[in-house]
Amino acid sequence: MKPLTITSQLEVFDSVEEVSEEIQSLMQQAVEVRDNAYAPYSNFKVGAAILLDNEEIVVGSNQENASYPSGLCAERTAIFSAGAIYPDSKIRKIAISAKSMKHIVDSPVPPCGACRQALVEYEIKQSEPIELYFMGEKGKVIRSKSVSEILPLVFDSTCL
Ligand code: THU
Repeated sequence: MKPLTITSQLEVFDSVEEVSEEIQSLMQQAVEVRDNAYAPYSNFKVGAAILLDNEEIVVGSNQENASYPSGLCAERTAIFSAGAIYPDSKIRKIAISAKSMKHIVDSPVPPCGACRQALVEYEIKQSEPIELYFMGEKGKVIRSKSVSEILPLVFDSTCL
């Protein structure tokens, strides 16, 4: 037996004011679209804004359903929309912001595992990293230089 050690290196910013103006603006779009979340069951609203290589921005928010698994997270709503509208564009960056209607979310909310899996598919497809920034409604912002950084040991087409 040999151990297999997996490490991820992320960057933590104390507040959104510390990130570049470009990312602040992208995060602001994530915050704005977060209000469009349809989240009557969880009361947890998430917004995602995606910057493409053609300078377009595609946004998404979580959309829930009385049949719970039929709902969709903000990140996948956004990236599937980007794929549908701009199939030939590369995805450069994604900003994510989450807010609870029950309590203050002041620590970064990372994309769930299913969203990481959906996001990494596009990263592999385009052979270029997608940079991620995620936060709560206030407080620290975490940056990951790629999706694979937060999804090591990925299941991809080579596994099939
Ligand atoms: N949610 C997202 O939109 N993104 C994530 O990465 C985690 C969870 C949504 C799904 C559901 O509508 C609500 O947050 C509570 O899980």
